Amino acid sequence: MQYAFMGIEELLARWGHGAQALALLSAAQELSVFLRQERDAAAVAAYARLTPDRAADLLTALVAHDLAEEVDDGRFRLTPAVAAALADDAPGDLPARIAQARLLARQTEAAVRTGVVEQSPADALTVARANAFRPGDGARAVVTKIFEAVPEVADAMATGRMLDVGSGVGGFVLTAATMLPDLRATTLEVVPEVAAVARERAATLGVTDRVDIRVQDARDFDEPDAYDIAFWAQPFFPLPAREATLAMIHRSLHAGGLLLLQQLDFPPDGRAGLAAFTLRRMVARAQGLPFARPMAELVAEAAGAGFALIRELDEDFGRMALLHR
Ligand SMILES: C[S@@+](CC[C@H](N)C(=O)[O-])C[C@H]1O[C@@H](n2cnc3c(N)ncnc32)[C@H](O)[C@@H]1O
Repeated sequence: MQYAFMGIEELLARWGHGAQALALLSAAQELSVFLRQERDAAAVAAYARLTPDRAADLLTALVAHDLAEEVDDGRFRLTPAVAAALADDAPGDLPARIAQARLLARQTEAAVRTGVVEQSPADALTVARANAFRPGDGARAVVTKIFEAVPEVADAMATGRMLDVGSGVGGFVLTAATMLPDLRATTLEVVPEVAAVARERAATLGVTDRVDIRVQDARDFDEPDAYDIAFWAQPFFPLPAREATLAMIHRSLHAGGLLLLQQLDFPPDGRAGLAAFTLRRMVARAQGLPFARPMAELVAEAAGAGFALIRELDEDFGRMALLHR
């Protein structure tokens, strides 16, 4: 056991500090945007509406956590890593990742107390944002890598029709729509509040005429033989919905149509990471999700619905399988 060599006091101090650091990160988000530029302590105090002493405490804490740095005497700015993660063209949504980390803590408590984790629409939106690309240059660079690794997918999306199953806020499909001028897609998202954000993003990007964002349970979608490629956000589909979802994808594709799916979570290699893994798995299972289902099992699951494997991919952007009807 990786923690066995520590006393309980040391463990409590570590975990307590982790919770405090997360609270710091969460509460200092607005200030982080302000600190993209160098600011002196007085400006930070005025911006954060803190007395000079409390602003000094806050800046000292941010520096101690490598979130900010003192550039010259009395002037502060974000460290390069944090600035990059908050940049307008960063591929991920750091504030949403922070919100998801806090959500996981609350959900862990529910999982332990009741064995069931209910997800409100606001929680679903947090998860969808945290797991989506933000359309921009950073996201386009990652999608370019995906297209290079699976050129069949790029070809099918460039000229054919795509079905995005469990589309969340549309990170992948909307980024792709900004790269492929002829892409035509239908997206299926069951939570209206989440689909509404995808619609706003599609409008901002000017792609609403090509991306049809539907609010519905994927299992009920009925447009047979109409699509060339489907992307299934399988990690977010609970066990009771999976068979009917795969059957829907199968009937929606033309013969030979492609299915792309991804494995998001993996068991840790050794002891390191095991503790965190057990908690995330407990929360996911309390939502009925098949946490870290291995690729071989995902392929077998899809085969049960009539799909055949083309190939598996293990790239720096993730582990995926490409199948066909
Ligand atoms: C987190 S998103 C995945 C990310 C997304 N593919 C992207 O590119 O940004 C997965 C979504 O699947 C949705 N979902 C889960 N079960 C569903 C179902 N039966 N029908 C439609 N959507 C579903 C969830 O509400 C969630 O928002």
